[in-house]
Amino acid sequence: MAKYAIKNVTVIGGGLMGSGIAQVTAQAGQNVTLVEVNADVLKKTEASIATSLARVAKKLYKDKPSDGEKFIAETRGRIKGSTDPVESVKQADLVVEAIIENIDIKHKLFKDLDAAAPPSTLFASNTSSLSIGEIASVTNRKDRFGGLHFFNPVPVMKLLEVIRTPETSEETYQAFMAWGKSIGKVCITCKDTPGFVVNRLLVPYMAEAVRMYERGDASARDIDTAMKLGAGYPMGPFELNDYVGLDTTNFILEGWHKKMPDNPLFEPLESMKKLVSEGKLGMKSGEGYYKYDKKK
Ligand code: NAI
Repeated sequence: MAKYAIKNVTVIGGGLMGSGIAQVTAQAGQNVTLVEVNADVLKKTEASIATSLARVAKKLYKDKPSDGEKFIAETRGRIKGSTDPVESVKQADLVVEAIIENIDIKHKLFKDLDAAAPPSTLFASNTSSLSIGEIASVTNRKDRFGGLHFFNPVPVMKLLEVIRTPETSEETYQAFMAWGKSIGKVCITCKDTPGFVVNRLLVPYMAEAVRMYERGDASARDIDTAMKLGAGYPMGPFELNDYVGLDTTNFILEGWHKKMPDNPLFEPLESMKKLVSEGKLGMKSGEGYYKYDKKK
């Protein structure tokens, strides 16, 4: 019945998201080609996957460390590194793109990949804030193109948003849903609309929290405590903002504001813009709305 059986997956971009996507795919027994810009970055990516796999093995094989080592070696053995995107897609059943969030760079990549990949290869982008239809527009396989939107950290977060554009075919959509399940994710479906489901709700919520703080209605700490203890959220909006990265939230808000200037939910935030301009990006830089111990 299934038109597309996915066994060979090429992941382009081995940063925060791509390394996680490669890891969970290999853990599910599929062959992965992981593409990065150069050998040095590739080495770092492979090291971060090894660290993450060691964590998984420790949990899964608590009582049998030798099985854990075997699991790590087998999983790593299924991931092949590459610095040649064109060569990397020649055998691919599915390509998942997780490179920098820049439409021009994504367009250039997908044009090259479209010319090199077999007609049956399915393409997906993990973009958080760009339109899938707009990314796909430079290819000749718009029916075999969709969004596969993962969450950070990929090995831990169960959700996968499967995005259909008006041109994504039913077969492609079904193949994406089946693949998501095969790598252990719970899939939901969403149209190609800004932020899909999670970010469309989460980003305005975080922005509203910042607006409350900017008005002086309550402190960041008190807003966080309120949402954790009163609404049952595992993290408060400022903790979440610092975790995601203020540059990321700011970039998303600015992009949506440009597209939809009349929507007050997407108004850029003064305090966030200031922190970003000072390099205070949240946990990763040691300071955002809160200060962090950099050694952590
Ligand atoms: P990142 O900056 O950690 O990783 C991007 C990687 O792509 C870098 O290692 C870079 O060297 C590599 N790269 C850039 N251009 C490339 C090219 N032409 N070919 C091969 N590799 C290339 O970024 P991150 O956070 O992993 O985001 C990647 C994508 O995933 C973006 O589209 C982002 O919107 C999306 N995303 C991010 C989430 C997050 O929480 N950070 C969540 C869900 C989606």
